Amino acid sequence: ADNGDNLAVTPPMGFNNWARYECGLSESVLTRNADALVSTGLAAKGYRTVTVDDCWMTHSRDAAGNLVADPAKFPHGMKWLGDYLHTRNLKFGIYEDAGTSTCGGFPGSLGHFTADAKLFASWGVDYLKLDGCNVPVPQGRTKEQAYRDLYAQQSAALGASGRRIVFSESAPAYFCCQNADWYRTLSWLPQYGQLWREGWDVAVHGSANKWASLMTNYSYNVPLQRYAGPNHWNDPDFLITGDEITAEESRTQVALWSMMAAPLILSTDVAALSSESVAAAGNTGLIAIDQDSLGRQAARVATSGTSEVLVKPLANGDRAVAFLNRGSASATVSTSTLGFTGTCSLSVTNVWTGTTSQSTGTITASVPAHGTAVFRITPGAGCSVVPTGQIDGIG
Ligand code: GLA
Repeated sequence: ADNGDNLAVTPPMGFNNWARYECGLSESVLTRNADALVSTGLAAKGYRTVTVDDCWMTHSRDAAGNLVADPAKFPHGMKWLGDYLHTRNLKFGIYEDAGTSTCGGFPGSLGHFTADAKLFASWGVDYLKLDGCNVPVPQGRTKEQAYRDLYAQQSAALGASGRRIVFSESAPAYFCCQNADWYRTLSWLPQYGQLWREGWDVAVHGSANKWASLMTNYSYNVPLQRYAGPNHWNDPDFLITGDEITAEESRTQVALWSMMAAPLILSTDVAALSSESVAAAGNTGLIAIDQDSLGRQAARVATSGTSEVLVKPLANGDRAVAFLNRGSASATVSTSTLGFTGTCSLSVTNVWTGTTSQSTGTITASVPAHGTAVFRITPGAGCSVVPTGQIDGIG
């Protein structure tokens, strides 16, 4: 389960029930959303890993010490659900916790990592989200060391499970954010897993201030570019596309998450998404930016008032540029920090409209309130690409 396994060469994509349904999950919630990923075409675009979050199990293990799926919620059991997903060319994700119990109060994996990993493998699990509630700190260990010990154990257990299982680590969320232990945690996560929840939970269905929650998660994640790369991704939590946010805000979240090479994990009622929301989550230009094989997280190269500029180098020498307008009035944003030199023409494609224009070096756009303009820039003859690391902010 370590970095050499190539388990997530690009950021994972899919669905998780948590932000939309919390503990109101069931077999039919999962199959409804899985079916909708297929029928909307989002699965074909990469949204394939369907993850069952907390509250899927009974309150105690069976006599043999195995976790038990709640038969009222999952009448056919978890192996059946895994088969259902695999038959549709989807992948099966599941939730557990590194401590004594999950955040929702169900049995944790502590002391059972090997057995639980084998059980998950027998169900066909392809992806494990391991949360970090209720982690005891043994005498002589710091809290950060205690987390490291347990995530290392789980990683080894997944490696010995007989199945390739992507490992999503929630450890850094328990040190959030921007303090010494948080950075210490971020430094060891890539040895054990492929992605990590670095900060706060995105606002769940029914909460107020969802836009503020998106901006908070974006703000903590955007400076973490040095931790991102193939098989190791910063996870600023779920896409809440179309769920109690405006169409503009939905587009902004997909745009920013794609620029940050973040996992794209929808936590919405996919079957109820408007065609506008499906178009936001399914924008092929943005998905290509998110899934670009270079695996670079965008750098924030400028901030001015409520406007921010992000630049993401791409594998073929193109650059993606995003203009975020956090403000509540439309704003004109421009930049010449694109990472090209020489006298040349740049071909500039707007990922939202699909239109292409030419530029000699500066890009300007009018961006609606809470909106994000994104352009893919292809350098023409005579342009040289400035090596990343030599451009201000792109390190
Ligand atoms: C934590 C996680 C959430 C979700 C819940 C489940 O809050 O961060 O994503 O898994 O636990 O209880």
